[in-house]
Amino acid sequence: MLKGRTAVITGSGRGIGKAIALKLAANGANIVINDIPSSDYADETCEEIKALGVDAIVVKGDVRKKDDVEALISAAIEKFGKIDIFVNNAGITRDGLMIRMNEEDWDLVMDINLKGSFNCIKAVARPMMKQRSGSIINIASIVGVMGNAGQANYVASKAGLIGLTKTTAKEFASRGIRCNAVAPGFIRSAMTDVLTDEVKQQYFNAIPLGKFGETDNIADVVVFLASDMSKYVTGQTINVDGGLVM
Ligand SMILES: NC(=O)c1ccc[n+]([C@@H]2O[C@H](COP(=O)([O-])OP(=O)(O)OC[C@H]3O[C@@H](n4cnc5c(N)ncnc54)[C@H](O)[C@@H]3O)[C@@H](O)[C@H]2O)c1
Repeated sequence: MLKGRTAVITGSGRGIGKAIALKLAANGANIVINDIPSSDYADETCEEIKALGVDAIVVKGDVRKKDDVEALISAAIEKFGKIDIFVNNAGITRDGLMIRMNEEDWDLVMDINLKGSFNCIKAVARPMMKQRSGSIINIASIVGVMGNAGQANYVASKAGLIGLTKTTAKEFASRGIRCNAVAPGFIRSAMTDVLTDEVKQQYFNAIPLGKFGETDNIADVVVFLASDMSKYVTGQTINVDGGLVM
């Protein structure tokens, strides 16, 4: 379905980003893995992807830094000649009740989750505009839709990302570029492993499908949004949350 296309996924050394990279590769796309400089696991992920019969490279860098983002886009174009799919997946949490949340934790989460995506969209829009095609997919969160006590910074960043998705869709539609978001619910990963059993149980009780999500559930929807199967879909946020929010 994606044979010969190039996909760049930020924060894809592990977790949801890795599952997205593997699934795009299984559908024929060549892959550019990005993750922070200290992510030793990214090279192993790259080997797993190559074993699927596509080409892949690792370009380490921090999405907060414009120079790193420019280098990521340049390296992808140099290797594969174009970028068809760009997934803004890099994200972090620094949870705490608002009354106790410090400015550093607010800034760090906004810088990576929201400004990092802005940096990447701006940089990838140029080559996509030239080729008059492209699919940008932003990994938001269901809490950006419903709000969540203890996550003011994270919720604001993900709600902002949903707004950024709509604006990107409107600004670039005439150039053949689509932009959509995926809002995962509770997905089993390093990010959710650290939550207390009490919080996990609260989520579990509120999920109509009666189970936590897997990283592959998100990757399946990303493949749809990356492919021509969704060619008339832009500016949308697809909740992938077992029915948590309806
Ligand atoms: N796990 C969930 O339940 C869940 C739910 C909703 C949304 N999400 C979102 O999905 C995305 C992936 O989360 P995950 O659960 O796989 O978490 P994760 O921590 O396993 O993966 C995040 C990856 O992003 C990388 N990263 C962090 N900061 C970066 C930066 N500045 N530049 C480049 N890469 C950076 C990390 O090194 C890591 O490899 C995040 O945006 C997260 O907010 C996750």
